[in-house]
Amino acid sequence: MSTFWSLWIIVIVVGSIGGCTWLLFATRKMKVTGEDVGETPTTGHIYDGIEEYDNPLPAWWFKMFIATVIFAVIYLILFPGLGNFGGLLGWTSTGKWQEEVDAAEAKYGVIYDQFAKMPIEELAGTPEALKMGRRLFANNCAVCHGSDGRGAYGFPNLSDDDWLYGGTPAKIVETITLGRAAAMPTWGSVIGEEGVNNVTNYVFSLSGRDHNEAAAKKGEKIFATYCTACHGPDGKGIQALGAPNLTDNIWLYGGSPELVKHTIRSGRNGVMPAQGDKLKASKIHLLAAYVYSLSQRPQ
Ligand code: HEC
Ligand code: HEC
Repeated sequence: MSTFWSLWIIVIVVGSIGGCTWLLFATRKMKVTGEDVGETPTTGHIYDGIEEYDNPLPAWWFKMFIATVIFAVIYLILFPGLGNFGGLLGWTSTGKWQEEVDAAEAKYGVIYDQFAKMPIEELAGTPEALKMGRRLFANNCAVCHGSDGRGAYGFPNLSDDDWLYGGTPAKIVETITLGRAAAMPTWGSVIGEEGVNNVTNYVFSLSGRDHNEAAAKKGEKIFATYCTACHGPDGKGIQALGAPNLTDNIWLYGGSPELVKHTIRSGRNGVMPAQGDKLKASKIHLLAAYVYSLSQRPQ
């Protein structure tokens, strides 16, 4: 904070406290003994014939105000509040936060370290580990993959046995740590609208869906020319490239003819953000165990 704004705040704070104190003393009058109520001065305000006494504050009330002023002064000496002056105790909100992080680290670090030594396959059968994994998933992954890991349009389902990049523990750790960037090129300008329609029919034939036989025949040639490099000669996908299996009727971007055509015409670029710089390896280990356990459940 610049010196000007620091001084600005100090002047306002000190001024308000001083002003309140002055007001308290300035308006304090001799206590009216009040034996004869008729003698008590009134403010002169009359509402429906009811007059308002001009009595001073009761002593306990006055003292309470003074106590708050004293509290404020002591507080401002010890804690931050006066512009850039940090207070004698050296308290900071980041320091407090760090303290709590350190305490949590000391408390849970042992448990993380203990789980980090266990293989993921084993953790996937350890309820306490999965509980921690589920909590980490809810905080870091559920926004995209859904709270149950079942995904959504463009975000893969992590609870089935269909993997873009591989479902072994090592592959899952790799995906989470380094992230993934998929590249499905744009084909509309290469094969034209008719080509898009034909190859879509061929793609549908791969998973046994309704399709036009003649169009699929033409599409097969297009597929062999342009698509097998990534999706494999049989269309079952290549995990090293993140190119999905097109024969299982599971669709990351929707399986309606229009959506599949759109994918082929305009391309797709799904991005899984890398977590390695955000989460410690021991947390990723637990997350991977949780994700792995989802795919191991009976469907
Ligand atoms: C910003 C959204 C987003 C967040 C947050 C996110 N993911 Fe992903 N994730 C994706 C997308 C999109 C893909 C698919 C990338 C693609 O299309 O190739 C993906 C892919 C994956 C895959 C690969 C699935 C497969 O079939 O191979 C795994 C595993 C995964 N994410 C786990 C996680 C975990 C664990 C977290 C939390 C630490 C997480 N993701 C957080 C968007 C996200
Ligand atoms: C350079 C590699 C590459 C080539 C070549 C390629 N694809 Fe893809 N394709 C991908 C990748 C990677 C994805 C996944 C995109 C994502 O996750 O965002 C994908 C996704 C798709 C999908 C969506 C699947 C789903 O589950 O929603 C379809 C359909 C598809 N490709 C069809 C084709 C067709 C047809 C061709 C040939 C005309 C083709 N691809 C050529 C890499 C490729």
